[in-house]
This record gives sequence, structure tokens and C-alpha cells, in this order.
Amino acid sequence: MTRQLIDRYDRRIEYVRLSVTDRCDLRCHYCMPTGFRNFEEPEDWLSFTEIERVIRAFGALGTRRVRLTGGEPLVRHNLPALAGRLAALPGIEDLSLSTNATRLAKHAVDLRQAGITRINVSLDTLRPDRFRAITQGKLEKVLDGLQAARQAGFAPIKINMVVMRGINDDEVNDMVEFCIRHGFTLRFIETMPIGETGRAATNHYINLQNIKARLAQDYDLIPGMVTGGGPARYVQVAGTDLRIGFITPLSQHFCDTCNRVRLSVEGTLHLCLGQNDKYELRPLLRAGISDEELKQHIIRAIEQKPERHEFNDKPATVVRFMSMTGG
Ligand code: 5AD
Ligand code: SF4
Repeated sequence: MTRQLIDRYDRRIEYVRLSVTDRCDLRCHYCMPTGFRNFEEPEDWLSFTEIERVIRAFGALGTRRVRLTGGEPLVRHNLPALAGRLAALPGIEDLSLSTNATRLAKHAVDLRQAGITRINVSLDTLRPDRFRAITQGKLEKVLDGLQAARQAGFAPIKINMVVMRGINDDEVNDMVEFCIRHGFTLRFIETMPIGETGRAATNHYINLQNIKARLAQDYDLIPGMVTGGGPARYVQVAGTDLRIGFITPLSQHFCDTCNRVRLSVEGTLHLCLGQNDKYELRPLLRAGISDEELKQHIIRAIEQKPERHEFNDKPATVVRFMSMTGG
């Protein structure tokens, strides 16, 4: 019988977000500081074989979903090969990818063939000058990547937009139109005080309830759509296929239904996005523990999962940058 991971607050953990690198070819200002160089060393990265072993153990413990993330996951060489190995593991029913899409044009077909079905793309603006200001990169590459993803047959493709006052909040309607035109799902995200850069960005924080109210003046929003196993609350735009999700960690937190943990590239389980609680697996793996011991350690780690984040009351809690756990 498959054992399950249930934490102290009766939440079933069935989803692992796997950061395959802490590096990124963009520098979204809210995520990573401009001159940041303090990356993990290659000898500390979990190898594909080590990653596969950990995810196999999670699969045996009832994990059904895995998302590849980063940093930018496509910066890690040979990502499609890893994806193929993970997709084949017993119990893993759903393999997805979060990417900035800069390298997607090159890899979309291989990733799709490897068994990834769904992708999320971070995109905060449709204006090239703004894109450069926010990310230091080129918008065109992302748009090419999105087109390649569509041609490769990914469905759904979700656009994640971090909405920031004075930075891109005037583009909310443009993004809605863009997603209607291309058949993408759109999700708005509130800025979170993760790392010093994330905290600085919360100066531009907007409560998404306000964005929803603003949108409701221009569109007929049908509430109450249930989708996915994640934190987004969705509405449908009447007369279109567009679904819009609101991810509101600050204005309406969703910790009581949290179903996930995060594994960073150096083999640390981060038990909550908004806390520093962690459990290091790499030293154990490299000390030669058995598969059964590995499962026991994972069970022990899940027992330490905190009840909730404290982004509102204690915004200085999280010291690591978003790029280390990929959201
Ligand atoms: N607050 C909210 N979202 C963030 N992201 C990165 N840093 C932050 C932050 N401080 C988003 C990215 C991407 C996802 C992985 O997390 O834009 O869409
Ligand atoms: Fe890179 Fe994503 Fe961080 Fe932007 S948010 S710098 S794309 S890891």
C-alpha cells in the first residue's frame, strides 16, 4: 500500500516543487539582486540520479505531482532528459514546468516529448522597454518561447504576472486581452517579502482584490471556478475561454490547504515558502542511506512543516531569495 504524507495540520502533501538550479538568465528585480553571484557550487547540485532517487521516494509516499522550477530550470543542461526520467517514476502522474520562457523556443518539443504537459510562464509586461527594466532581458525571446510552447502542444499554458503598483498595474487589461487572443490562462500574483529584493518590491504591493474589482468594471467575471490543486482562485471572463487566477498570499492566505514542499538544487527540503524551516537531504544521500531510510527522513521532514507563513506580521522572516526555491 502506498503510504501518504500527512502533516501535523492534517494537510496531505502530494506535490513537490523541484528547483533544478538556483541560476537564472534574467534578473527580475523582486527575485534576485542585480550583482548576485553567491550561487550553489556544481558539486553541491543534486545529480539527476540523486534527484530521481528522491522523487521516487516521494512517489512511493503518495506524491503525484512534480513541478520543475529554478531559478530558470532550462539553464540546467539536459533538462528534458531529467524530465523523461521523472515522468516515468511510479506514482508521478503530473509533471509540469515553471519557466521564464527565454529558452523555450529551443526546448519546447523535447520537453513535451519527455512528458511535461503543463507549463507556467512568468511574464509581467508586454512592453519591451519595461521588460528590460524589470528583468534585464529581451521580451522577444519570451514571446518566441510562448509560441513554440503552443505549437508543441502544451495545455494549459499559464501566464504568471506579479502585479506591482507603478510598475505594471496599468497593463492588467492588456494582459487579459493578450491571453484571450492566445488562449493562455492568466494568473495575477501579489508580491511577497521573500529575501531583501522581494521585501523591497513590496513597496509596490497591490492587494489583488482591488485589481479584481477594477477588472469587473470592464469584464463580466464569472466567479467560483474550481481548478487545479493550487492556491489560485479563478474566475472566467464571460464570452471568452479566459480564466483568470488570483494568487493572494498576503490579502487572503491559503496556508490551510497547502499541499506542497520544495526541494532546492542542493538537496534541501524547504517546508514552507514563507518560513526558513528546512531539512537537508544531500548529506544523507551522500552518506549512503537506504531507500527506506530516505523515506523515513522525508516523513520526518513533513512533520516539521510549519502551519503558515507570516508575510504580513513578520515580513523579514525569509532570508533566502525566491530564485533558490522557484516560488
Ligand atoms: N513575490 C511574488 N512573486 C515572485 N516571483 C518571484 N519573486 C517573487 C516575489 N517576491 C514569481 C516570479 C515567477 C514565480 C516563480 O514567482 O515572477 O512567476
Ligand atoms: Fe529568473 Fe524567475 Fe527570478 Fe525572474 S523570477 S529572476 S525569471 S528566477
